[in-house]
Amino acid sequence: MNKKFYITTPIYYVNDVPHIGHAYTTLACDVLARYKKARGYDVFFLTGTDEHGQKVEKAALANSETPIELADRVMQRFAALWEKLNINNTDFIRTTQQRHKEGVQKIFSKIEATGDIYLGSYEDWYCTPCETFWTETNLIDGCCPDCGRPTDKLKEESYFFRMSKYQQQLLDHIENNPEFIQPRSRRNEVLSFIREGLRDLSISRTSFSWGIPVPNNDKHVVYVWFDALNNYITALGYPDDKEGKFAEFWPASVHVIGKDILRFHTVYWPTFLMAAGLPLPEKVFAHGWWTVEGKKMSKSMQNVVEPNMLVDKYGVDPIRYFLLREVPFGLDGDFSQSSLVHRINSDLANDLGNLVSRTTAMLSKYFDGVLPEPCDATEFDQKFINQFPEKMEIIDKQMNDLAFNKSLVSIWELIRSANKYIDDTAPWALAKDTDKKEQLGGVMYNLLEAIRLVGLLVGPFMPDTATQILNILGEDGQNLSLNDQDQWGGLKAGVTIEKATPMFPRIEE
Ligand code: MSP
Repeated sequence: MNKKFYITTPIYYVNDVPHIGHAYTTLACDVLARYKKARGYDVFFLTGTDEHGQKVEKAALANSETPIELADRVMQRFAALWEKLNINNTDFIRTTQQRHKEGVQKIFSKIEATGDIYLGSYEDWYCTPCETFWTETNLIDGCCPDCGRPTDKLKEESYFFRMSKYQQQLLDHIENNPEFIQPRSRRNEVLSFIREGLRDLSISRTSFSWGIPVPNNDKHVVYVWFDALNNYITALGYPDDKEGKFAEFWPASVHVIGKDILRFHTVYWPTFLMAAGLPLPEKVFAHGWWTVEGKKMSKSMQNVVEPNMLVDKYGVDPIRYFLLREVPFGLDGDFSQSSLVHRINSDLANDLGNLVSRTTAMLSKYFDGVLPEPCDATEFDQKFINQFPEKMEIIDKQMNDLAFNKSLVSIWELIRSANKYIDDTAPWALAKDTDKKEQLGGVMYNLLEAIRLVGLLVGPFMPDTATQILNILGEDGQNLSLNDQDQWGGLKAGVTIEKATPMFPRIEE
C-alpha cells in the first residue's frame, strides 16, 4: 500500500476576490502535492471556500445579492483561477454544501454530548449604531472606538466551547512535537499565547443568520471558525466516512496557512479535535505575507495584484516559479514586476531555456538529432553525474521542510552546472576532431540525461515546462514520476531528439 499524504489550503472567504496572496498559498500546496505524488504517495489535496458569516452576509447586502448568490459567483472565480494556475486539487469544499453542514452539526452535537460545549451568555459592551460588541479594553472612555458614541452593557446568549480545559494538553502536545508548528518562530508565538491562559470560546452567534444552525436551537448559528475549520474533516466524509477517506487520510500531513490565521489553526482547531477525540494534524505551516512594491496590498490602495492578469502577461509557469523562488517560505516578501521580469530572464530564459536549446541544437548539428551511446565516464564526467543523486537527496529534505525556494536553488545549481559542463567540455572543439566523436557522444548523452532529470525535478513547480522538456526527449511528459525514473541513465541511446524552440522568450526590462 502506498503512503498517504493529505495537504490542505485554508478555505478562502468569498467576500473578497482572489489575489496573489491567495494564489500563493494554493500554489505552494499544489507544488508539494505534485512532488509527493511523483514520489509515489497517495495524495489528497483539498482547497475550497469559506462562505458563511457576517462578513459574507454584509458583502452580499452591499451588492444587493443574497449571500448564496455572492458565494456562487465568487466561488467560480476561485475555481477558475485554480484551473488557470494549473492547480491539481483532489476536492473543492464549499461550506454551504450539505455534506459540510451536516458534518459540522454532527461534530457540534458530539462535543456537546461530552459536556465540552455548553450554553451560557457573555456580557460585552455594545455599540448599537455600529452593531458591534466591544470588550471593556477596546472602549475609549467608555465609548465605541469606531464612532465615539456611548455603548451599553449587553448580555448575549451563546454556546461556549470549553477550550480552557485543554490548555495543558495542548501545551504538552506542542512541546512534545517540535515539528507541529512551523516555522519555529511561529511556534514560540503560539506557546506564549497559550501560557497566558486559554478562556472558553464563544462558538455561536445570534446577531445574524447566515451560517449553519446550531442543532436543536436555530436561534443560533455556528461561529464561522468552528464551521470553517471542520472543513478539513468534513471533506473526507467525517463523521460518517462512508467512502473510508477519513480513515485513509486523517490526520492531515500538513495544513498550509498564512501567518494571520495561525492561532485559529494551532489553538482552536487542535482543541476542537481533542474534544472530539480525534488525532491532531501532523504539521501546521504558516507562510509570510506579500506586500506589493513595498506596500501592503489592499483594495483601498488599489494595488491588489490580480493573478489572472499576471498569467496572461507572463505565462503560468513563470508565475509559479517566481512566487516560490523569490521568497523563503515562511518569511514576508515583496512583489514587484521588475523582479519578476528579472527572474524570468535570468533563471528561466538564460539558465534553463538556454541549456535545453543549446544542447538540442548541438545534438542536431553533430549527430543529426540521434542520441549517441554514453561512453566511459572520465573522472570529470563522473563528478558531474554524481551531483544528481546527491542533490536529489537534499531536495527531498527541502521539499519535506516546505523550503521551496531552497529546492529551486538546488535545482538551479544542477542547471548551472550543466551549462558549465558545456563550457568546460567545449563540444564544438571536440566536433572538429573525428577521433573524439565517441567522447563528444558521451558529453551529449550526459547533457541530455541531465536535462531529463532537471525536467522531472522542475515538474512540481512548472508542470507544463516539465512536460515540454520530457516530450522533447521522447519521454512520457504526462506522468511524471520521481520514484523509478530518478536514476541516472534513463535515456535510451538511439532516440531522435528534435532541436527545441526557445522555451522562455526574453522580456524587455
Ligand atoms: N476563511 C479564512 C480561512 C479559514 S481556514 C479554515 C481566511 N480566508 S482568507 O481568504 O481571508 O485568507 C486565506 C489565506 O490567504 C490566508 O492564509 C491568508 O494568509 C492568505 N493571504 C491573504 N492575503 C495575503 C497576502 N497579502 N500575502 C500572502 N498570503 C495572504 O482567512
